[in-house]
Amino acid sequence: YKILLLNGPNLNMLGKREPSIYGTNTLADLVEQLSKQACEMQIDLTHVQSNAEHELIDAIHSAYKKIDFIVINPAAFTHTSVAIRDALLTVDIPFIEVHLSNVHARESFRHHSFFSDIAQGVICGLGTKGYSYALDAAHQFLQNNGD
Ligand code: DQA
Repeated sequence: YKILLLNGPNLNMLGKREPSIYGTNTLADLVEQLSKQACEMQIDLTHVQSNAEHELIDAIHSAYKKIDFIVINPAAFTHTSVAIRDALLTVDIPFIEVHLSNVHARESFRHHSFFSDIAQGVICGLGTKGYSYALDAAHQFLQNNGD
């Protein structure tokens, strides 16, 4: 199976950025840990992080008919981007939405997501572990849907 991991704006600063909220693991640590996990599950994992909305959209378009599942943390675009939502609907690839922090315990503008109602599932508040759980769930989803 081929899975695309997408990380949105400011996640390149993971480890330095508000560590009390987002933890001290860097994005490189996270990607390394997930790549190992993917390897054990014989999953081909590709990672794209971008601070630019159009680059995330382009990455989703490139996944069309090539990628089986997407794990995405749209970061601040979660709360703003109809365009990324539409891109996911366009390619029709199942996805899990992940957030490091518990967005529901934070400012009210973080309570709404443009993705949750079209996601296979949503994980938030569990830190980097959330990505690991998402990868596991994606693997099981693909096995159960047998393609
Ligand atoms: C985030 C939560 C968003 O509200 C925020 O804008 C982020 C990160 C998270 O992983 O907790 O950049 O998606």
